[in-house]
Amino acid sequence: MPNTLAHLIYSSAATRPLSRQELQDLHAKVERNNAARGITGMLLYANGSFFQVLEGPEATLEQLFAKIAADPRHQRVTRIIQESIPQRAFADWAMGFSQLEAFELDQIEGMGDFFSQGHTLAQLPAGRARKLLEAFAKGRWRSQLQGMPPQPAPASSLAAPAPRALDKAPQAPGNGAGEAVDFSFAFQPIVDVLARRVYAHEALVRGLHGEPASEVIARHSAPDLAAFDAACRAQAIAVAARIGLPGTLNINILPNAVLDPVVGLDSTLAAARRHAFALERIVIEATESEAIRDLAHFRRTVDAYHGAGIRFAIDDFGAGYSGLNLLSEFQPDIVKLDMLLVRGIAAHGPRQAIARAIVQVCVDLGIDLIVEGVETLDEYAWFRDQGVRLFQGYLFARPMFEGAPPFVLPEHGQAPPEQTHRPADTGGASAA
Ligand SMILES: Cc1cc2nc3c(=O)[nH]c(=O)nc-3n(C[C@H](O)[C@H](O)[C@H](O)COP(=O)(O)O)c2cc1C
Repeated sequence: MPNTLAHLIYSSAATRPLSRQELQDLHAKVERNNAARGITGMLLYANGSFFQVLEGPEATLEQLFAKIAADPRHQRVTRIIQESIPQRAFADWAMGFSQLEAFELDQIEGMGDFFSQGHTLAQLPAGRARKLLEAFAKGRWRSQLQGMPPQPAPASSLAAPAPRALDKAPQAPGNGAGEAVDFSFAFQPIVDVLARRVYAHEALVRGLHGEPASEVIARHSAPDLAAFDAACRAQAIAVAARIGLPGTLNINILPNAVLDPVVGLDSTLAAARRHAFALERIVIEATESEAIRDLAHFRRTVDAYHGAGIRFAIDDFGAGYSGLNLLSEFQPDIVKLDMLLVRGIAAHGPRQAIARAIVQVCVDLGIDLIVEGVETLDEYAWFRDQGVRLFQGYLFARPMFEGAPPFVLPEHGQAPPEQTHRPADTGGASAA
């Protein structure tokens, strides 16, 4: 039955590491070809190896696979699964494309630490390949798949792609205001260990394929920075609203972006309105150095945001030289302790003395204190002994890119409840 609908799944090893541009070119070509032939599926590239799911009429698949297998860009092309299927799992993708890291792949159920142990997609056994396929088909990482919908298949080809389901439509990179943007966001939970719930999420800028913030920021030059900063805030709100992120959203002011009370606030208000995002859920994080650059200007800006119901946090507190002096002039809603003070604190007397003083000042001034960059149990235990209850860091959760499942508190195994409280309700750095 040459026209039976089938899928063919294979893995391979890239002959040499492919650059981002080469991958983009390959993806563009593959999409065009497949859309014209009624082929759908997904292509994954991780650590120098490929995993591809091809769906379509069996005869077309067979011809295409012969062509792909002969492509000099990869080797050890291994057919893992080929079987007929009742319907397409990727009907809305001419060829969804994703690039992931080993640790991200290992988060998929059934993978164990297969990839972190140095195995590649090219060594994937059939059982794990099915798990990977299921994870992508069901929705995991789906929003990271970039691609376009297939063209209607030629009438002669059986099993034309199903009409694109609206709820599964790939998200065009835009901010909801019709403006295209070339970045997205990862979200890192901030937890309240006493209430055992997620207190907030910090939005961290990333490229559309998860590239680090530094790479994204480097693409935007200095004169453009204030506009980029405003666009970042709008996009963070857009993505948070789209994925239904619960609770408070912490958004950073970009380093060196001149904090413009009008441009920044207006764009934030417009984005919040557009996405029906309550202003009380927004916290703007600015660093100590941003605040002291021009304290009077900074205070006016904060007043304008406060007037709208948006709160302010001082980020990386303790990293600069102003420290507690700043708090005598200006009291933010939240202070985030710099991770350099946190690192190895359990065995560092001077850091302990400084941190103890900051914790006490925050309690006295009614400022919520978040200890960030917590990576070890010792660091956590030391601050917990001081009565701190709000924590952020790899010990709890890494930043999660759009498409990851909701954060689950490790001990309880429960999804965090919807957060509607203001931080004052949780007591911040107050003693437990
Ligand atoms: C990992 C990998 C996956 C590919 N997947 C497809 C595919 O799904 N469809 C396709 O037409 N070409 C795919 N290609 C490219 C083909 O090998 C070949 O270069 C291309 O089909 C030639 O297209 P043309 O005949 O239009 O020039 C892939 C190549 C690689 C290295």
